[in-house]
Amino acid sequence: MNDAFGRQIDYLRISVTDKCNLRCRYCMPETGVPYINHDKLLTIEDYCEILAAAKELGIDKVRFTGGEPLVKKGIVALIQKASQIGFRDISLTTNGILLESMADDLQAAGLNRVNISLDTLDPNKYHAITRWGHLEDVYQGIEAARRVGFTPIKLNVVLMSGFNDDEVTDFFDLAHRDDVDVRFIELMPIGTGRDFKDLIVSNQRILASHPELEAVPSLDNGPATYYRCPGKRGRIGFISPMSCKFCSSCNRLRVDATGHLIPCLHSDLRLSLSEALGDRDKLKALMVQSAMIKPQTHHLDEGALTDKPMNRIGG
Ligand code: GTP
Ligand code: 5AD
Ligand code: SF4
Repeated sequence: MNDAFGRQIDYLRISVTDKCNLRCRYCMPETGVPYINHDKLLTIEDYCEILAAAKELGIDKVRFTGGEPLVKKGIVALIQKASQIGFRDISLTTNGILLESMADDLQAAGLNRVNISLDTLDPNKYHAITRWGHLEDVYQGIEAARRVGFTPIKLNVVLMSGFNDDEVTDFFDLAHRDDVDVRFIELMPIGTGRDFKDLIVSNQRILASHPELEAVPSLDNGPATYYRCPGKRGRIGFISPMSCKFCSSCNRLRVDATGHLIPCLHSDLRLSLSEALGDRDKLKALMVQSAMIKPQTHHLDEGALTDKPMNRIGG
């Protein structure tokens, strides 16, 4: 399926819940998310229908996000369904806290890979940024991901000036030692993240101070550009929505936990799927419509502000 600007849309990001077992300060208020009545939330059966329709339109990559997707009851069954439908690439973006206990089941269900959020390698700072998380749980999650063969393992690091920008080389060392991809993400000033806009670190600054990095071709249309330190294992990635936006190669549509199709992370356009559930052709028509209204680009770099909660759209 192509959009109005000729971009091939082959990737669906599904937010299965807006809830999370952590409260990263740039993502969620301490009190968590407003209560949503259960009848407004999609069921696992609804998600399965949406997956089947998307596959018929040529979408063959699916990522489950949140909030935290592993707190969603039925997530393992949903992944199994995605696998049965024949998705080529099935992935999760997770904070990793529950991964150790769920990795075997997720692998057996057909999950291919995980992206794990990890903003600092200091246990005290981790506790502070997540409000109560334990770094050791994430390390065990990464280890479990490796044990069951998820590959590649990508770590997402949102850089914040004065908080973790002194840890860049520690993250390089982790990538080399554990052969994982470490990706530095420029904080987007949306939702709670707006309070952190003065702490945005430009990835161009990090790149400029590491001339040893050699560019490596990316194998997909993902948002990251990748580099390697010569002779070392693990890739170093940069996701730069603020300094170097990647909209021209965007390949994705999103579904949120209340059943809206969202053409772009930063777009206010959304189409409700609720009337179309139970009718494959209607679901497909809405997906085509969503692709056709997908904006050419976002305008965050020009100062556009949005209060959209990241945790409901799934990043
Ligand atoms: P793969 O490349 O498939 O591994 O995944 P990904 O990097 O797209 O997914 P992930 O959920 O790990 O997202 C990493 C960061 O990229 C998060 O901060 C997302 O918010 C951001 N991101 C993902 N897709 C988009 C997008 O379409 N636009 C923008 N601006 N940011 C995105
Ligand atoms: N800007 C950039 N990345 C963000 N994430 C959450 N909020 C923001 C933001 N405002 C990241 C998380 C997670 C991924 C889904 O998005 O750290 O790795
Ligand atoms: Fe939870 Fe991820 Fe948001 Fe942190 S960034 S509060 S782990 S959804």
